[in-house]
Amino acid sequence: MRIGILTGGGDCSGLNAAIRAVVRAADKDGHRVYGILSGWKGLLKGEGRWLRVEETAGLLSLGGTILGSSRVNPLKVRGGLKLCLRNFRKAKLNALIVVGGEGTLKIADALSRAGLPLVVIPKTIDNDTAGTDATIGFDTAVQVATDAIDRLHTTAESHDRVMIVEVMGRHAGWIATYAGLAGGADAILIPEEIFEFKDLMGILKKRAKRGRHYSIFVVSEDARIRLASGKILRTPLQHDEYGDVKLGGIGEMLAKEIRKSTGAEVRVTVLGHVQRGGTPTAGDRVLATRLGIAAVHFVEKRQFGRMAVAHGAEIVSIPISESAGQTKRVPPRIAKLGRVFFG
Ligand code: F6P
Repeated sequence: MRIGILTGGGDCSGLNAAIRAVVRAADKDGHRVYGILSGWKGLLKGEGRWLRVEETAGLLSLGGTILGSSRVNPLKVRGGLKLCLRNFRKAKLNALIVVGGEGTLKIADALSRAGLPLVVIPKTIDNDTAGTDATIGFDTAVQVATDAIDRLHTTAESHDRVMIVEVMGRHAGWIATYAGLAGGADAILIPEEIFEFKDLMGILKKRAKRGRHYSIFVVSEDARIRLASGKILRTPLQHDEYGDVKLGGIGEMLAKEIRKSTGAEVRVTVLGHVQRGGTPTAGDRVLATRLGIAAVHFVEKRQFGRMAVAHGAEIVSIPISESAGQTKRVPPRIAKLGRVFFG
């Protein structure tokens, strides 16, 4: 078979490990893999190249994606779907493996309905893809954020400061929740629940009584905080050049309020794209490898229009339509775990 592969949307660590797994698994079974460049942009332009097995050396631990990625969306390009279908046929491909997150899934769903035989591998540091226990890139992002929190603990204590760590995650607080739990945060603020500003003040007071004049607050980029006035503090809604929601800045907004209210020294660390780059963790390498191999097997079985997902200890496939357009958010039973350690 001639199998195409593309990586779409925001990159993350572990994409190259998935590409390696697909190329190696396909080669073992006598198939060839064609890499489409820069995500959907490459399919729209008909840009790609055949991937050789020798090229997979060193990919397992390499961050980013050798294919490149973009947020270009064929659904927003006039005649985009038709162009994608035409270029897919022109390259004489039999199937396409799409490695992507939320936006990519919607596009894959539309293309699959239009007749393009494809299988999706879920990736995103946000871990918000419905239908899978985990997505490629999440574990690494959590590790990066946890390392940062560990480092901030010592400097926070030296200077008796409130340290705010702003993490990514879009409309889901998975990174904040996991990194906050792993790093022993004094408060974790996520989009799934509105946090009362007075409760944050309560945490500072409670800690001060115990002689702890420093705190670490982990804040997800779309977190909401209700001030005493009833106003909700939240990053103002902005969009990037592709029309996707652009978040960031809540850490500094919250810092201002804490300074105003307590006079405390507050510092903000915005982790940003550091969470998306560099060497993937062992967990992400293994997940990417398992999903990559499984995706090739689903292609061989002609199980198209499906996504390879982690379900407990197994990798299975679900219809793309079951996940596209949905957001897997942090359930209350997990969100409340952090509260055991607040204050
Ligand atoms: O979806 C992944 C993600 O890293 C989000 O957590 C973040 O809001 C967004 O992408 C940032 O996008 P960009 O790389 O376009 O700035």
